[in-house]
Amino acid sequence: MSLAIICSGGDAPGMNPAIKKFVDYVYDKGEKSYFIYDGLEGLIDNNIKEASYKDVAGIVHLGGTIIRSSRSKRFYEHKYRKQAYENLKALDIDGIVVLGGDGSFRAMEVFSSEFSINFVGIPSTIDNDIYGSEYCLGVDTSLNVIRDAIDKIRDTASSFNRAFIVEVMGRECGYLAAVSAVVSGAEICVIPEVEFDKENVQKRLKAEIDNGRRYVLAIVAEGTNKSSEIHDWIEKELGLETRVSILGHIQRGGNPTVYDRLMAFDFTIAAVDYLLAHKDSNKVVIYNKGELSFIEIEEVCSKKYVLSQKLIDSIKYLD
Ligand code: F6P
Repeated sequence: MSLAIICSGGDAPGMNPAIKKFVDYVYDKGEKSYFIYDGLEGLIDNNIKEASYKDVAGIVHLGGTIIRSSRSKRFYEHKYRKQAYENLKALDIDGIVVLGGDGSFRAMEVFSSEFSINFVGIPSTIDNDIYGSEYCLGVDTSLNVIRDAIDKIRDTASSFNRAFIVEVMGRECGYLAAVSAVVSGAEICVIPEVEFDKENVQKRLKAEIDNGRRYVLAIVAEGTNKSSEIHDWIEKELGLETRVSILGHIQRGGNPTVYDRLMAFDFTIAAVDYLLAHKDSNKVVIYNKGELSFIEIEEVCSKKYVLSQKLIDSIKYLD
């Protein structure tokens, strides 16, 4: 059999360990492996090459993806999806491992509804917002990058009488912000899933400032679009000079953590085994309570990821 691997959408730390495991494991199984370079753009342009163990030597510790990725606009058009399908057929590729997030999975849902393709998706996004899986590849590394940044910002915040707003990624999902706020002991957390109770927070922080609090850390999810509003509010109502730090794409970089590497291996082995055993898979491999399982792509794409009540409760103390 011939299996291919592709990265699509935002890169996530852990993609390279997954790519390495893919090539090594498919080789061990006596099958052929291919790289689809440049995401769905490369699939359209037939940028597909056979992979060898040499290609994946020395990559396990690297962030990003050696086969690169893209956000393809052309893939929205049927004629390009047809071209992509023909490229796969011409190489006799029997199955694809897709490392991507929700946009990529939606693209695969449309693609698989039109053409007979066999794929398993691996949830790979720092946003951690894929329905059905409590964990997505890359989120652990990203959380550690954010934790490190906030620890450093705390150093400077605590040296002044200042508030700092740290804006973190996550698209419409507040996962990165909520976990980061909890583990960093932030005073404020603003996420799209919970209404921000300004009045309560103001009362609590005013009392603390009167009692000697000298600085404030606020973690704001990018999906709320509220960083500048919170900035103005803190300056006006709490009387603290305030700075905004938008962490940006640094959150997608860095060497994958031990956890992301181990999960990359487990996800990839499960995906390859599934593809080798099934001829018509439109599945996503998901992780919950220590177990991997598979769900249909339609289910992943039609339902919305919701933050666990436990996580929401853990930021309640900030109200
Ligand atoms: O989906 C991952 C992510 O990093 C989001 O958190 C962020 O909103 C977006 O991608 C940024 O996209 P781009 O790299 O295209 O600017």
